[in-house]
Amino acid sequence: MQTVVSGIRPTGNLHLGNYFGAVRAFTQMQNEYNCYFFIADWHSLTTHPHPDDIIRSTNTILAEYLACGIDPEKATIYVQSDVREVLELYLYLNMNAYLGELERTTSFKDKARQQPDNVNAGLLTYPSLMAADILMHKAVKVPVGKDQEQNMEMARKFARRFNTIYGVDFFTEPQSFSLGERALKVPGLDGSGKMGKSEGNAIYLIDDEKTISKKVMRAVTDAGPTEPNSEKPEPIQNLFTLMEIVSAPEVYQHFDGLYNDCAIRYGDMKKQLAADINAFCAPIRERILDIQGDKELLSRVARIGAEKARESASKTIDEVRHIIGFRPR
Ligand code: TRP
Repeated sequence: MQTVVSGIRPTGNLHLGNYFGAVRAFTQMQNEYNCYFFIADWHSLTTHPHPDDIIRSTNTILAEYLACGIDPEKATIYVQSDVREVLELYLYLNMNAYLGELERTTSFKDKARQQPDNVNAGLLTYPSLMAADILMHKAVKVPVGKDQEQNMEMARKFARRFNTIYGVDFFTEPQSFSLGERALKVPGLDGSGKMGKSEGNAIYLIDDEKTISKKVMRAVTDAGPTEPNSEKPEPIQNLFTLMEIVSAPEVYQHFDGLYNDCAIRYGDMKKQLAADINAFCAPIRERILDIQGDKELLSRVARIGAEKARESASKTIDEVRHIIGFRPR
């Protein structure tokens, strides 16, 4: 089985966009690959979070992934900071990472612009830490979004460079793994673009029925079509796309028919959409609440995951130390 690694930054609750864009695909991949899914809490330190927030957001992410169906029996789910071997590999990779190439990455330049008072070395070496996460398990496939392409390119470069410097064929170059058909782009509720946390247009898996209803009812619409079978403007198309994702096909066809006949009432459509989103989210929401309340379960999952991750990491680190010329640990 091929090894897959993916890191999740603990940046708040999962929304429908995360679910249909990635998490659902992860639940399928865990049956087909040797998967390592981890919470990238070291990465999150670049923005200096408060200690309470680190613990809370790690537990939140863990609970939400489990509630979505990531199965600790199938995939290795762990917290990055539980696996100290990653730091050792991070150091070795940093020794072969050049200031110029790190400074040139767009994510560094963006971050440096966003937080000019905190342009720390962790930001600069973010790609080395990410490469350590990946190379640690000799992953061949890494499911990431387009925004991570440059970091993936760096990971491949660091793998190649290590092999060249030491004259070994040790690290495999990891490939970005496009989720393809398994990933759906979920639109936001504000008329344009996709659902995103920072966009403020998201429905979270944890949202209750009332919140979902309020958000959907507020979604942007227009005065309605005046000509039969007219093209849907983006805000309307977005509502239909959401409906296609969460509702039954008949329901979608019903409202699509009304639209094409210029007989649609958006209020009715939104009510239906809100009900269907709630029907989808409710069981997940209940599981999230259950799991979040079960601190023992959460720490057991994290502990078992850490053990499995450390096993794979130790093997790599032992070999890397040997290659570099250090004594066995
Ligand atoms: N940089 C990734 C992101 O921002 C998170 C991440 C950290 C990651 N380490 C990784 C993703 C390793 C894949 C593999 O989303």
